[in-house]
Amino acid sequence: MSLPETILFSLAKRLYQSELGHSSEMKDALQSENAYADFRSQQSQFVLNAAAACGIRLKGKVVVDFGCFDGAITSRYADAEATHVYGIDIDKDAIAKARQHHSRDHITFLESDVKRMPLQDSSVDVILCYDVFEHVAHPADMLHECYRILRPGGQLLIGTWGWYHPFAPHLWSTMPVPWAHVFFSERTLLRTCHRVYNSPWYQPNMHDLDSDGNRKPEKFKEESISTDYLNKYLIRDFERVFRESEFDCTLRLQPFGSRYASWTKPLLRLPYIREFFTAYLWATLTRPEADHSSRLSTGVHKACAIAGTAE
Ligand SMILES: C[S@@+](CC[C@H](N)C(=O)[O-])C[C@H]1O[C@@H](n2cnc3c(N)ncnc32)[C@H](O)[C@@H]1O
Repeated sequence: MSLPETILFSLAKRLYQSELGHSSEMKDALQSENAYADFRSQQSQFVLNAAAACGIRLKGKVVVDFGCFDGAITSRYADAEATHVYGIDIDKDAIAKARQHHSRDHITFLESDVKRMPLQDSSVDVILCYDVFEHVAHPADMLHECYRILRPGGQLLIGTWGWYHPFAPHLWSTMPVPWAHVFFSERTLLRTCHRVYNSPWYQPNMHDLDSDGNRKPEKFKEESISTDYLNKYLIRDFERVFRESEFDCTLRLQPFGSRYASWTKPLLRLPYIREFFTAYLWATLTRPEADHSSRLSTGVHKACAIAGTAE
């Protein structure tokens, strides 16, 4: 084992019982599919609060849950008095589960193509895209599709995180060391996750079990993280792609909530530093009533306003 792997493994082992990677609430939720679906369903309140703070109302609206997965959150959007909610996802199996567990009046689950969403032009009032945008391989194309299906004045709310977030690689269970992907190579990171996963003190969760309940023998075969899985965009990349889109856009950066991290809040005003200390990014993108395409074709892009920090 190389020296960097030895160092990272020893840090991971020390921090394994801490709540840095996963909170104890999340660890409990990961014990079963139902508990995890309940946990995520409760997360809908986080999205609804953010939507309200950004001036987005669901009542009486046609809403799309973009990247709905198994629909655990989608049905909560329907409870917020939306006229109709479409849950769409590229994962066929997830859509099948969503249909099985959450189909009811006013909710339709649709399998989507990466390049084209199965909805008509100008047919939607609001698109909610929570914990999905960091997975979208071609963000500019996806924004263009959202623009197409939104009616003029329609709004897209994106909740996501930048690649320098302390846990951006989505490896929480096996890698509780913050910013490990920034300080170590991806090869070191994934090899260390492999070692943690095979350690006697590692406690498997539902993501580690196959459909028969057996522990997956090997989860970390790759030596790098594919951009088909995580696009690795920094906040400044998101900002650029939003600015270059046809939308009017406002960004809100959320600081870390822990009382130990409250000192980081002023750092969100600093362009490079904020990449490391932003807990979450909310972007509200509004399709203008009048078309921006002529403005874009001349190469003059509108500004992407920063609305300060969101609590
Ligand atoms: C981390 S899950 C989030 C699920 C759900 N929003 C939630 O919070 O419970 C990300 C989901 O986005 C979906 N996804 C990724 N790229 C997509 C795309 N281009 N179009 C539609 N869904 C996509 C994935 O299949 C996955 O189900």
